[in-house]
Formats: sequence, structure tokens, C-alpha cells
Amino acid sequence: MISTLYKAFRKVKGMLFMPFYNIYAKVIFFLNDVNYGKDLKVLGVMKVRVTRRGKVTIGDNFCANSGENFNVIGRQQKTIFWVEGELSIGDNVGMSSTALICNHKITIGNDVKLGGGVCVYDTDFHNLDPEIRRDPTLDKKTSGKAEVNIGDNAFLGAHTTILKGVTIGENSVVGACSLVSKSIPANQIWAGNPAKFIKEL
Ligand SMILES: CC(C)(COP(=O)(O)OP(=O)(O)OC[C@H]1O[C@@H](n2cnc3c(N)ncnc32)[C@H](O)[C@@H]1OP(=O)(O)O)[C@@H](O)C(=O)NCCC(=O)NCCS
Repeated sequence: MISTLYKAFRKVKGMLFMPFYNIYAKVIFFLNDVNYGKDLKVLGVMKVRVTRRGKVTIGDNFCANSGENFNVIGRQQKTIFWVEGELSIGDNVGMSSTALICNHKITIGNDVKLGGGVCVYDTDFHNLDPEIRRDPTLDKKTSGKAEVNIGDNAFLGAHTTILKGVTIGENSVVGACSLVSKSIPANQIWAGNPAKFIKEL
């Protein structure tokens, strides 16, 4: 009985609060000049920071879960857009607690699914030269950067990390917890650290 009441309360609470997350997302997108399409659906609080030279466009039917209450697969983080470059997200893209760190350019196609805890980096964050790395300003300015492309209908398993310069081909799948340092052709499954070819789809 108590359990039934608790579950009903939980459901009602969820339904009451859900619209506020969407409103919060719209406000934070507005304040950061993020262009988004129709039927935005965000659950949880996203962390969004777009600099003056940063640009973000999101297509229709974007769906994001953010944080522990809405991404229940473990190893929580918020959905994060940290953008100093150009981030483009197509139509019908879904992501859960995903971090997109864009210093240069990240392009995500249509119908892409980014599993819980995925991180996409188009930068090394730091310079590889030990002397330059001692100077915080120069270090950040001169860190390696290269465009990331995630093709239409790709599916990245939970906790995968995509490094700079990688292209994921259309329809391809990346296994959970993979580290992708090289590009993946279309219609293939890759997995592991570093990600290796598993099979054709
Ligand atoms: C990649 C994946 C889709 C493959 O599934 P599958 O087609 O059923 O593949 P199998 O289980 O038959 O595995 C095939 C091979 O890939 C390996 N493999 C599968 N997933 C792997 C992974 N994540 N990392 C490393 N190797 C992996 C298997 O060990 C197996 O290797 P073997 O041929 O040497 O024995 C699945 O393992 C996976 O990672 N799913 C992601 C789930 C997920 O994260 N969802 C998102 C939640 S938000």
C-alpha cells in the first residue's frame, strides 16, 4: 500500500516538474544564443556555456536527459555544452548526460543517439609541448584541435569518449565504454579502448 502511494507520488511529482526543465533549457539556450528547432524535450538541468565566438544550432525533436534523476545508468554527469567553436546538431537527436566540448567544430547528424555519459572532445585541452604547457594562456590557445563529425543515425554506447579529428560514419555503432581515437567508416560496429573494428552491420 505504502509502496503504491509512493510510486503514485513519484509519478505525479515527475509530471509536475517535467515542464520546468524544458522551460529552464529554453531560457539557458536563449541566454547563450543557441538556435533550436521544434519540439525540444529536455529533462533535468543542462550546463550550457557558449562564448561570444561560439555558435550552436540544434534541429527539430532534440531530446536530452541530464543528471542523476533522468539518466539512471550510473556514472552521472549533466548534459554539458561547452562551446567556443561551432556545434551543429541535426534533427531527432537524443542524448543522455552527454558532454560536448567544442573548441573548434563538432557536427552531429540526424537521428543520432548518444548514450549515457558520452563525451565528445574536439580539443586536447592542453599543448603537448611541456614548456608551452607551463604557460596557462598559451597552453590553451595552442592545444591541438580538429573537427569531429558524427554521421546520421550513428549510435554511441554509454560512456564512450570521442577524441578530436574523429568521424563516425553513417549508421555505425560504438560499443559501451569505448575510446575512439580514429575515424570509423559507415555501417560498422567498433568497440574497445582504443576502439577496433568488431563487425559490419
Ligand atoms: C557494441 C554492441 C552493440 C555489440 O553488441 P553485439 O552485436 O550483441 O556484439 P557481441 O556481444 O556479439 O560482441 C561481439 C564482439 O565485440 C566485443 N564487444 C562488444 N561490446 C564491446 C565493448 N563495449 N567493448 C569492447 N568489446 C566489445 C565482444 O567481446 C565480442 O568480441 P569477440 O568476438 O572477440 O568475442 C554492444 O556490446 C554494446 O556495447 N552496446 C551498447 C549498449 C549501450 O551502451 N547503450 C546505451 C545506453 S544509454
